[in-house]
Amino acid sequence: MDQWNADLYKEKHAFVFEYGNSLVDAWLQPQAGETILDVGCGTGELTAQLAQQGAIVTGLDASPAMIQSARANFPEVTFVVGDATRFSLPQQFDAIFSNAALHWVREKEQAIERMYTHLKQGGRLVLEMGGKGNVQEILTALERAMSQRGYTYEPFWYFPSPAEYTTLLEKAGFKIDRVHFFDRPSRLADPATGISDWLEMFGGHFFANVPEKDKAAILQQVQQELAPRLMRNGELYADYVRLRVAATKI
Ligand code: BEZ
Repeated sequence: MDQWNADLYKEKHAFVFEYGNSLVDAWLQPQAGETILDVGCGTGELTAQLAQQGAIVTGLDASPAMIQSARANFPEVTFVVGDATRFSLPQQFDAIFSNAALHWVREKEQAIERMYTHLKQGGRLVLEMGGKGNVQEILTALERAMSQRGYTYEPFWYFPSPAEYTTLLEKAGFKIDRVHFFDRPSRLADPATGISDWLEMFGGHFFANVPEKDKAAILQQVQQELAPRLMRNGELYADYVRLRVAATKI
C-alpha cells in the first residue's frame, strides 16, 4: 500500500527538500545539458530545481502518490514510479542524485547495483541519507513508550556509518570522492506536535499492529518526553544525522 500523504509531507516536512539545496549546489553542481536521475525524488522539488539549472532530469520514486504530486506541480519534468532496488530505465545517466531516500532501502546492495548500472562510465553519484545515530532520541523514546504498553518496536530504517556505506559502494565498483558525516538538527514545523507529526508522517510501519487509541497515547508520550530535550529557543528539532557521499563510476 502507498502510505504517503504528499500534502502533509510538503506542508510540515518541507525541510526534507529545503536542506537538500546545498547538496545540489555544492556537491552535485548540475551542468546544463547533462542527464541526471533523482532516486527517491518524493514530491519533486529538488528534481525540478535540477531541471531549472538546465539538466535533463528524471525523477524516480516508489510512491505513486508522491509521483502524482510531482507531476502535477512540475509538468515539464519527467517522473516515473519505480523502486530503487528494481528499476530499469532505457538509458544511462551522467549523474545520479539522491536526497533523504536511501535510508528507506533495506536491500541496499540491490539499490547500489541499480544506480551503478544506470550511470555512464565516469558518471557521478551524489547522495545524502540518514547516517548512523539518525533520529536516535526519537527511536529510543518510541521503543520505550511501545514496550511500556506491551508492543515490540522493530528497527526499520537503514542508517549506515560512513565506513559501512562507502565499503558497499566500493564493492560495487565506485570510487569514493568525498564523504561528510554530520549532525543536522532539523526544525519541525510545530513545536507542540512536531515529533508526533514526524512519526505520523514517516513512522506508520511502527504502528501497523497498534490500535488507534494506543498509538495516540504512544505519540503523545514520545512528544512530551522529548520536547524538553529537543527544544531550543522555542523551536523543536529532530536529531538528524546526515551521511553525504560523492562517488564516481570507474
Ligand atoms: C531522514 O531524512 O533522516 C528520515 C526521514 C524520514 C524517515 C527517517 C529518516
